[in-house]
Amino acid sequence: MAIVLGIESSCDETAAALVTSERQVLAQRIASQDEAHAPYGGVVPEIAARAHAERLAPMIEAVMAEGGLEFADLDAIAATAGPGLIGGVMVGLVSAKALAMAAGKPLLAINHLEGHALSPRLADAELEFPYALLLVSGGHCQILRVDGVGRYRRLATTIDDALGEAFDKTAKILHLGYPGGPAVERLAREGDPTAVKLPRPLVGSGEPHFSFAGLKSAVLRAHESGKHTAADIAASFQQAAIDCLLDRLRVALGDGDDLPALVVAGGVAANQSIRSELEDFAKARSMRFVAPPLELCTDNAAMIGWAGCERLELGQNDPLDFQARPRWPLDPDAEPVRGAGVKG
Ligand code: KG4
Ligand code: ZN
Repeated sequence: MAIVLGIESSCDETAAALVTSERQVLAQRIASQDEAHAPYGGVVPEIAARAHAERLAPMIEAVMAEGGLEFADLDAIAATAGPGLIGGVMVGLVSAKALAMAAGKPLLAINHLEGHALSPRLADAELEFPYALLLVSGGHCQILRVDGVGRYRRLATTIDDALGEAFDKTAKILHLGYPGGPAVERLAREGDPTAVKLPRPLVGSGEPHFSFAGLKSAVLRAHESGKHTAADIAASFQQAAIDCLLDRLRVALGDGDDLPALVVAGGVAANQSIRSELEDFAKARSMRFVAPPLELCTDNAAMIGWAGCERLELGQNDPLDFQARPRWPLDPDAEPVRGAGVKG
C-alpha cells in the first residue's frame, strides 16, 4: 500500500491530505480564502498566493501529525502543478519539491483537472475506465472521454465562460455575494424555473461545445428590467444551465453506448439539482451515474493525493525542475474552438 501526501493551492483553497492507494484518506485539512476575496467579488491572485504561503507549511505539519506519520513514511509527494493562478501553484509545487528532495521521495506534479477527473475513483472502487466525464468548475467546462490515467480525449469545451463562472457572475448580478454557486443554488429553490425566459446558447447545434456568455447577459437584462424576483431569476438561470448541459451531453456522447458510466466532477458538481438531472439523463441511457461526495467536488487535496497514488502505481514520477503551468489542457491534441476566452 502506498501513502501519498497531496497538496492543492491552485486557486483560493489551501489544502493538504494523506491518501493511500487503498482509498483511505488518513488526514486532510482545507482552508478557504473566501473572506479575503469576498470584498473584491472574485479571487485576487496576489492575495491568494500570499495566503497559500502563510498557511501551507503549518497545514502540512498538522496533517502529518494527525496521520501519525513522518515524511520518511510517505511513498511520494504530490502537488498541483497547474492549471491555475501561477503564484499559488508555485507555493504548493515548490513546497512539494523541497519535501521530496529532503525526504528522498518521488515528486508527482499533478494536473489539477486530472485530480478532478480521477476523484470519483477515490470514492468509488467499482468505477473502471473508460467513462464519460463532465468536468464543471469555476475555470472549466468540458466533456471528456477518460480511457485511463493520463488518457483523456476532449469531446467538448466552452467557447467563452465556464459554468461555475456563469454561476458566480449570476450571483454577482443578484448581489448574493461570493462564492456564488452555492448561493444561487439556495435561492433557486425558492424560485420558479419557468418564470424568466432565458436563452439556451448553442442548444440544437451539432457541435457539442458550451457557451454561457449570452446566458449571463440575459440574466443581467432580466435583473435590470425590475420585473422579476431574484429567486425567479436564479431558478430560471439554473434551469437554463441544466438544459444546456443535457443537450450538449446528448450531442457529445451521440448514440454510442461504449461508455458505461457518466461521471460528474468539479465544483459545480456540488449542485444538487444538476446532480439529480444528470442522474436521470444517465439512467435513461442505461449508464451508471457517479458523482463524488460534495467535499471531493470542490477543490481539495485528497483528489491530488489520489491522482498521485494512481500515477505512482503506474511507475510514474516527475523531475524536480518541473515547471508550474498556468495552462495545462488534459487533452493537448484537442482542436482549438472558436471564441476568445477558451480555457484549458
Ligand atoms: O472546482 P472548484 O472548487 O474550483 C475550480 O477549480 O474552479 O469550482 C469552483 C466553482 C465556483 O465557480 C463555484 O461557484 C462553483 O464551483 N460551485 C457551484 C456550487 N458549489 C460550487 N456551482 C453551482 N452550485 C453549487 N452548489
Ligand atoms: Zn478545481
